[in-house]
Parts: sequence; C-alpha cells; structure tokens
Amino acid sequence: MRLIFLGPPGAGKGTQAELLTANLNIPQISTGDIFRNAVKAGTAMGLKAKQYMDKGELVPDDVVVGIVEERLAEPDCANGYILDGFPRTVAQADALEANLAARGEKIDKVINFVVPKDVLLARLTGRWVCKNCGATYHEEFKPPAKKGTCDNCSGELYQRDDDKLEAVTKRLQVYEEQTAPLIAYYQEKGILLTIQGNKPVEEVYNEIINGLKS
Ligand code: AP5
Repeated sequence: MRLIFLGPPGAGKGTQAELLTANLNIPQISTGDIFRNAVKAGTAMGLKAKQYMDKGELVPDDVVVGIVEERLAEPDCANGYILDGFPRTVAQADALEANLAARGEKIDKVINFVVPKDVLLARLTGRWVCKNCGATYHEEFKPPAKKGTCDNCSGELYQRDDDKLEAVTKRLQVYEEQTAPLIAYYQEKGILLTIQGNKPVEEVYNEIINGLKS
C-alpha cells in the first residue's frame, strides 16, 4: 500500500506513521527525519536544509524531490510505504506522480489530518523527541516513564529547534499557503481520506485503519 500522510505540523502524522508501519510492514519515509539526519551528519545537503528548517520554511522542491525519488527506488519500498511530510507543494505532488507513473505505480490513499490550530500549537511546543531512535513524546499527552529519557531505547530526549513558537507560527503559515492546496488536488483524484486528528492517539489510529479498509 502506498500512502501519503498530509496535514499541518503537529497533526500527528509521525505518531500515526510509527504505529501503521509496524502493522502494515512497510517503511515510513519522513522527509523531515531525512533532513534532520543529514543535519546531524553534517552533510552539504543537511547544511543547506537547516537554513530553511530553522526558519520554518520549506526546503526547495528540487532538493526534496531528488531525495525522495532515490529513497523510493530502494528495495524496502517494493511493497509500499508511508510518505510522511511529502509532497508539500503542488510541484512536489506533480513530480511524485510522474515518477510513479514511469514505473506503472500510483498512490493508493492520501490521509488528510485535520486538527485545530490551538491544539497544534500545544502539541508542538510540548513535543520531545529521542535523539537516538526518533520516538516522539509529549510532556502532557504522552509523557515518557522517566523524564528526559526514551522508553524504547533509554536515549536522551530533546526539543526540536523548529518547535519554538516563532518557527511554529511560520510553519503553520507555510502549510496554509503551500501545502493545504494539496487537499483539493488529491480530492479531485478521488483518493483523499480525511481524518479528525483531535482525538486520542488510539482513536485516530482506528479511524485510519477503518478508513483504509472501506
Ligand atoms: P517535518 O519533520 O515533516 O515536520 P512537520 O510536517 O512540520 O510535522 P511534525 O513532525 O512537526 O508533526 P507531525 O504531524 O509528525 O506530529 P507528531 O506525530 O510528531 O518537517 C520539518 C521541516 O523539514 C519542514 O518545516 C521543512 O523545512 C522541511 N521539510 C520536510 N519535508 C519537506 C518537504 N516535503 N518539502 C520541503 N521541506 C520539507 O505529533 C506532534 C506532537 O503531538 C507529539 O508530541 C505527539 O506526541 C503529540 N500527539 C500526536 N498525536 C496526538 C494525539 N492524537 N493526541 C495528543 N497528542 C498527540
């Protein structure tokens, strides 16, 4: 199954992708994670991406598209994948469609996460992420058993630079301007599944599973 997770920052895309990949046995491809790993490794691409990420802006389309095309050609994508945070512009969506069409493939469903803005702000400013395995926590909604330590791997938890209020505000604005038009784009293609993301994690998960079955 080839899926796209579409939604504003903090909508729960990463949280749900983590659960669904285990269930469907397909990889989660998060462009945000790819960039954060490149920043950590200090690669040229990472340094370039960081300039945009820290300000809450999108990394240029040509950089993102090339990275995703390379990733989709890897063997673990043969049976499907979850694209988490890609595409984010109409140009990226067009490039993805052309790339898949060249291989006789297509996206099965686009999950559109809907969450009110005040909830997004609370989620992002309270988010903690594991430095080691990338697991996501929230100081109020999903606290780790031991403060500052990952339940899965005992790694150290940190707050992302772009989860500061100024960058979050910019990211939400960029989402409305550049990414939200993809809702109509995929609606027209008849593959959009809209999910109410302002519910407990398990309920959102069940709504996705039921939506995919129907
Ligand atoms: P990226 O890492 O993709 O960030 P994002 O899309 O802004 O999404 P987030 O990771 O912030 O949120 P999420 O929806 O995954 O929420 P999560 O599950 O963590 O991108 C970062 C940057 O990289 C971009 O700004 C851009 O610069 C660049 N980039 C990436 N892709 C790009 C592209 N395609 N083109 C150009 N540039 C690109 O949940 C958030 C919090 O809420 C967590 O604490 C979680 O525990 C909590 N939570 C989740 N679900 C629930 C729930 N149901 N109830 C209560 N709490 C919940």
